[in-house]
Amino acid sequence: MTILITGGAGFIGSNFVLDWLAQSEETVINLDKLTYAGNLQNLTSLSENPEHIFVEGDFGDVALVNQLLRAHQPRAVLNFAAESHVDRSIHGPGEFIHTNIVGTFNFLECVRAYWSGLAADAKTAFRFLHVSTDEVYGSLSKTDPAFTENNKYEPNSPYSASKAASDHLVRAYHHTYGLPVITTNCSNNYGPFHFPEKLIPLMIVNAQAGKPLPVYGDGQQIRDWLYVKDHCSAIRRVLEAGAVGEVYNVGGWNEKPNLDIVHTVCALLDELKPRADGKPYNEQITYVTDRPGHDRRYAIDARKIESQLGWKPAETFETGIRKTVQWYLDNPEWVANVQSGSYKDWVNRQYGDQAPAAAGVAA
Ligand code: NAD
Ligand code: DAU
Repeated sequence: MTILITGGAGFIGSNFVLDWLAQSEETVINLDKLTYAGNLQNLTSLSENPEHIFVEGDFGDVALVNQLLRAHQPRAVLNFAAESHVDRSIHGPGEFIHTNIVGTFNFLECVRAYWSGLAADAKTAFRFLHVSTDEVYGSLSKTDPAFTENNKYEPNSPYSASKAASDHLVRAYHHTYGLPVITTNCSNNYGPFHFPEKLIPLMIVNAQAGKPLPVYGDGQQIRDWLYVKDHCSAIRRVLEAGAVGEVYNVGGWNEKPNLDIVHTVCALLDELKPRADGKPYNEQITYVTDRPGHDRRYAIDARKIESQLGWKPAETFETGIRKTVQWYLDNPEWVANVQSGSYKDWVNRQYGDQAPAAAGVAA
């Protein structure tokens, strides 16, 4: 048996592949374009594992995907590939439209053709699992109930709008063609291999480098955090037992304002790797211009996946964030290697005069 996943060299995809192969002998075909966010170093521990077949390529490349499907006959495909960073989508939405919408469409077309040609049993058993985000539901006020699967779609950034469009396409392929799809909409992930353009790894990396910790606006925006391995276990569970055509929200009931997250990271670093001058890392916090159109609050109501599929996260935020900070402290080479030239260009474009790299704070 074989599964094909897209985007398996990224943050969540690589954690998924590692976890999958730690508990299963089922081969994984891992199709990833290796954009700036794709990193084969995440998968070095699998270099001798014949069950991991990595293919560098675009999930929207029809000829390549058709050939992979024909050659490997997967019983399921899991679609992680995407442009994923909201700030990048504000600076350059085109790539998000191309990858998240057009790419998903091309991929769906290939998978539909492959699935249509399967024998009856294989056709019934086949699954297309689409990995999506809570951002498609828009922004909540402080008192709104958490997002359920029935919330209407109100995406506010080019990123979330492009993910929403991909969700709609996936839904339509089930409704119109009968393709056996399932979609998951998850909240903010954190954990190992998270690219340091995103809040938590950026804070860990900048703090140690003695750079400012850039907090957008008033820092009171709320996100709902889930340890990445819990997201992976949810996806495995949905693949195993989720109902075709259904949507499952995934989250760990862990709403926190951004500023609290930054203070927590600073406190852990104070404990695990104190600054040379003995001062607290939170002295490096710097308020910077807010993200345009910044969503105020996300929160996931995870009762459906809990009650229907019996899934629960294994980590609390306290255990997960400690593991995460420790992982970054233990892996300075990984951090140094992802901070390539293109990453530095991005930081300069995003933060301009307020660039963490430019401002420099003595640690
Ligand atoms: P990421 O940016 O770390 O990784 C994306 C991966 O997709 C990279 O390896 C990249 O090389 C690959 N990719 C991009 N374009 C491709 C293409 N055209 N063909 C093949 N591969 C391509 O993203 P992530 O944080 O791991 O997110 C994975 C998925 O989960 C995304 O669909 C994202 O929308 C969704 N999601 C992310 C979060 C989160 O907090 N990070 C939460 C919920 C949902
Ligand atoms: O909710 C799920 C989404 O979570 C995923 O779909 C996205 O792919 C993923 O990137 C993430 O989006 P966010 O925009 O919530 O994540 P980010 O880490 O970019 O920002 C988290 C919060 O921290 C957000 O409110 C913006 C704020 N922030 C972020 C950065 C990078 C800062 O205050 N300063 C920063 O420098």
